[in-house]
Amino acid sequence: MSLRRSRIIGCGSYLPERVVTNAELGASVDTTDDWVVQRTGIRERRIAAKDQRCADLAREAARAALASAGVDPATGLDFIVLATTTPDNTFPATAARVQAALGMTRGMAFDVQSVCSGFIFALSVADNFIRTGQCRTGVVIGAEVYSRILDWEDRGTCVLFGDGAGAVVLSAVEGENGSGTGAGAGILSTHLHSDGRHYDLLYVDGGVSTTGTAGHVRMNGREVFKHAVTNLSGVAEEALAAHGLTPADISWLVPHQANKRIIDGVARKLGVPAERVVVTVDRHANTSAASIPLALDEAVGDGRIKAGDLVLMEAIGGGFSWGAALVRW
Ligand code: ACO
Repeated sequence: MSLRRSRIIGCGSYLPERVVTNAELGASVDTTDDWVVQRTGIRERRIAAKDQRCADLAREAARAALASAGVDPATGLDFIVLATTTPDNTFPATAARVQAALGMTRGMAFDVQSVCSGFIFALSVADNFIRTGQCRTGVVIGAEVYSRILDWEDRGTCVLFGDGAGAVVLSAVEGENGSGTGAGAGILSTHLHSDGRHYDLLYVDGGVSTTGTAGHVRMNGREVFKHAVTNLSGVAEEALAAHGLTPADISWLVPHQANKRIIDGVARKLGVPAERVVVTVDRHANTSAASIPLALDEAVGDGRIKAGDLVLMEAIGGGFSWGAALVRW
């Protein structure tokens, strides 16, 4: 049987130069390296320079992904889908700025906003454009400058986040079966959920139609934690069950990097051993929509993720919104 699906043919990422340690944050808010490491696993994060915008980070990640895929953005791309909660402007879409910066004058470029699950949502949108035959090749980016929406006096949130960007290039492949390298490779399925009743557990207290300001992140950490572990393990099981697979089949779990305790909790619930989980939260903190493509790029770049591997990505964010993507590499 012939089936069109999308395959990840390149990965890239970008991290701002400036490293900020927990100890450095402890100079301005009442916190310690010990507290942050024990509760979150975070040791340091990157913070964008004053003149760096979301589109700048996104452009660098996209360039790296395009180079690794060998795709020329001027001629070879049908779309850019960019997931972000921290866009350059209210409009136009940050993706359009990236499109111009890459020298891409055809196709489409738009943003997707689903907070920390934004990359999974954007990947799903892109995958569906390819599956339906409307597009062949595109870039999916997660890019964030959370440092701009943090309340740097709130120790409960400012220690948790960082800035960065990651990207993948997707391209259509035909044929589910066959043999040889890459047979059966591609995005097997994506699974998305939202539950808007939990708005006030994790939100930004500003916006265009409310305060006219960008606002700051507000969170009930304990409640978010409980929902995160339950919803993430649930959607991971849903993705596996859709293909008659079990957690034992997973080569690599690439989770959203919010908190090491959440990552460990989900892996434990699924029964995935720690050595098959990609972790970057210690160095990147929570980069929201950028965290999964950043982790993916690291694990592909250092050779952990190889052709034929089964990769499960999962994320949850404000809304709540959560999802998973199952990929045969
Ligand atoms: N340093 C020192 N003390 C702190 C800090 C800090 N940075 N932050 C909070 N505290 C204090 C609190 O003030 C409180 O003090 P009190 O007992 O005197 O009132 C105490 O620590 C306990 O506070 P809690 O919020 O109950 O601490 P908890 O053990 O729940 O840990 C944390 C907080 C790390 C945020 C945890 O709830 C968590 O990991 N939640 C998940 C949320 C998350 O990761 N969100 C990311 C965004 S959502 C996403 O991406 C999925």
